[in-house]
Amino acid sequence: MTEIAHLVARQVWDSRGRPTIEVEVTLASGATGRAIAPSGASTGSREALDRRDGGQRLGGFGVNGAIASVNTEVAQRLKGMDATDQAAIDSALIALDGTPQKTRLGGNAIVATSSAVAWAAAADQKIPLWRHLRGLAGLDADRPHIPAPMIQIFGGGRHAGNRIDIQDYLILATGAKSFSESSEWIAEVYMAAAKAMVKRGKLNGVADEGGVWPDFTANEEGLDLLTRAIEAAGFRPGADIGIALDVAATSFFTDGRYRLALEGRSLDTLGMIELLERWVSAYPIISLEDPLAEDDDAGFIEITKRLGARIQVIGDDYLTTSAARVNSAAAVGACNAVLLKSNQCGTLTELIQASNAAKLFKWNTIQSGRSGESEDVTLSHLAVGLLSDQIKVGSMTRSERTAKWNEVIRIEQSFTHSDYWRFSLNR
Ligand code: PGA
Ligand code: ZN
Repeated sequence: MTEIAHLVARQVWDSRGRPTIEVEVTLASGATGRAIAPSGASTGSREALDRRDGGQRLGGFGVNGAIASVNTEVAQRLKGMDATDQAAIDSALIALDGTPQKTRLGGNAIVATSSAVAWAAAADQKIPLWRHLRGLAGLDADRPHIPAPMIQIFGGGRHAGNRIDIQDYLILATGAKSFSESSEWIAEVYMAAAKAMVKRGKLNGVADEGGVWPDFTANEEGLDLLTRAIEAAGFRPGADIGIALDVAATSFFTDGRYRLALEGRSLDTLGMIELLERWVSAYPIISLEDPLAEDDDAGFIEITKRLGARIQVIGDDYLTTSAARVNSAAAVGACNAVLLKSNQCGTLTELIQASNAAKLFKWNTIQSGRSGESEDVTLSHLAVGLLSDQIKVGSMTRSERTAKWNEVIRIEQSFTHSDYWRFSLNR
């Protein structure tokens, strides 16, 4: 009864007002599952690629081609397959697509299909998706694990029209005892940060992921303001709440230099590392994501050597949710944590492989959404299901973000006691 009886795709909308694809799967038992593809703006060059129609309509972002491929080829291929066998479903999708970056069917078509199948399989078993994912990943289904929210306070980089260079100023409530408490502390800091911007006459709306618009004259100003907002909200920077930056350095690396446009200067790899080292010493920073560009292997090795014992060095564009890239980075001592994005690799099976590879090296794992999101909550279930350390999906505002935080709050409440994340490295 768990075989796929029906599969249909439709056009829905994402948080940037762009079209995206939703896939709905119905099993022979009548159980259904559906999922919506997210979409990134600061994408790595090795990612699975969204298939977009191009042309004039909807700015070229149309997904009619991706929808057509699901409604024809994909539906034909998957009909009759067992939805509980995610590995077989994903292998079939990969083989049917047949390209290295999933360009033929579209990474967006594939990730929505892969995720919708998992939802349908969970529904058929009458279990939450996170519990089904534990089984798929070979993890303890009963562990009441809850990840920590890593939440954006200021947005920047490509998510704020390149108003500043650094992409995300986020915080982690290292002293909180639960997800609910963490989210409450972070909400207090968000409010304090917004209030500080009002006071300066600089509250000019929010960025793509709902973080306060970064009206700064230097990138470091964001760190200064954030540290003060943590204090203003009544917390101790460092002891209660730590800062995390998604530098997203690929987005400002051109012709071999890191170009900080806001400050009118450019740095080589060593200069960039030294700048970040100074920030780590001066501010309560506990995590740096993509501190260097996606091809700067030597830089990733050097920064991990210098800072990896103290803070998370996360690869996002650098690792692109690939088990093979996690393995080769670990072999040379680059990174100690991985960002996991389902649409970056394209299927849940590949995401599980990357997550499990990172765990073998005792790396921290961070489950991440994209800057273009929807009400879909697959991400929350991946973070709980794959025993991820943290979950990252932007700020405390905008419903496509709060949908994910609120789903984790529900899951946390469903546990009689929860085994909540504690910040540590190389556990
Ligand atoms: P993106 O940004 O979804 O625009 O790629 C998120 C991130 O860099 O983590
Ligand atoms: Zn990133």
